[in-house]
Amino acid sequence: MPANNGTSGRALRPANRLVSVTPFRVMRLLTRANELAAAGRDIVHLEVGEPDFGTPEPVVRAGIRGLEAGETRYTNAAGIDALREMISLHYHEDYGVEVDPSRIFVTAGGSGALLLAVTYLLDADDEIIIGDPGYPCNRHLVTALGGRGRLVTVDETSRYQLTHRRVQQAWQANTRGVLMSSPSNPTGSVAASEELRAIGDECRQHHACLIMDEIYQGLCFGADRFSTALAEVPDAIVVNSFSKYFGMTGWRLGWMVIPPGAIEIMNRLAQNLFICASSIAQEAALAAFSDESRSIMDHQRDQFEQRLEYVLPRVRDIGLEVPCEPEGAFYLYAQLPDFVPDSETFCDYALEAQGVAVTPGTDFGRHGADRHIRIAYTRDFPALSDGVDRLALALDHFGG
Ligand SMILES: Cc1ncc(COP(=O)(O)O)c(C=O)c1O
Repeated sequence: MPANNGTSGRALRPANRLVSVTPFRVMRLLTRANELAAAGRDIVHLEVGEPDFGTPEPVVRAGIRGLEAGETRYTNAAGIDALREMISLHYHEDYGVEVDPSRIFVTAGGSGALLLAVTYLLDADDEIIIGDPGYPCNRHLVTALGGRGRLVTVDETSRYQLTHRRVQQAWQANTRGVLMSSPSNPTGSVAASEELRAIGDECRQHHACLIMDEIYQGLCFGADRFSTALAEVPDAIVVNSFSKYFGMTGWRLGWMVIPPGAIEIMNRLAQNLFICASSIAQEAALAAFSDESRSIMDHQRDQFEQRLEYVLPRVRDIGLEVPCEPEGAFYLYAQLPDFVPDSETFCDYALEAQGVAVTPGTDFGRHGADRHIRIAYTRDFPALSDGVDRLALALDHFGG
């Protein structure tokens, strides 16, 4: 009998529903960019959706203290009380919204919160409305759970956000909710309050729910910095994260605010799916709301805003159209000129020939996807300047 050492080469058959859970094109680009860099090429990375600043020092110190104090055990499924109370205070102080700590669930990143929220709402074959273009994981996680993401076009006429009218038109008998991001990835646009209110009303009328992903909320550049969808739709599920504004991507920590009537079942679900979020990350995050940490993070947000002010006109100058000025996050969703064949061809050429990595629009949905690229301005000014020069050379190659 042949030895069964797991290397027979026969692929393990995945569930049928996973066929449409496609890999990120950006990961293929990132792998290739790293190969080129390892071979000695100088690569400008404008593809990665991760702040370049790292975790603020006071947060790192709190994490180390937590480890030394032996805070290495399971916590409550919804997170440690001290952190939930701090997040509750954050809503009061920053947004003027009252949220009882019992409604706050600390999760493994915003991703953990999105997974819990969608699992809570959807039965097999139920639908959730998602904007296209949008964050790719959303439609994939809905599919992985056996639900269906109904992609609804968002474009410059709606500032790349869902509107009440578009939601109404897309609504089906089995629609259980609407999933939005504001500021959005890949466009950095912010949802309008009056649309949110109307979408919230629509959801309520159908006993469905608005899930609002606010993981870039701390990186809003205008007055929207002081708003949350909870002010417009108090019964929404609002997702947030320590990854972006707080600079803690690798710690895997986020949270969500849920309606009071969902607490008991969400608790059960969180216990069963995750037990809890990382205890050390939670200890570290206790320092994330201190004045010292906030001033570091606010300064970093200002840096992103200055980068936007610098990079947007430069990108437009080289012939890439950005119809709506972003209002937050750290992305530009730029339209390719007609002479470029398609976004994947452009991104491959830009990386291989010019050494600049950007993400093809095809990662973010279907609508106009092969005519767009996403540029992440998560690099310092010299790298941004160099990156835009290289993009200009790539455009020249195609005839610009
Ligand atoms: C819109 C959006 N939501 C959620 C996430 C998940 O982030 P995390 O799980 O690190 O909080 C990301 C990550 O890039 C994102 O862009």
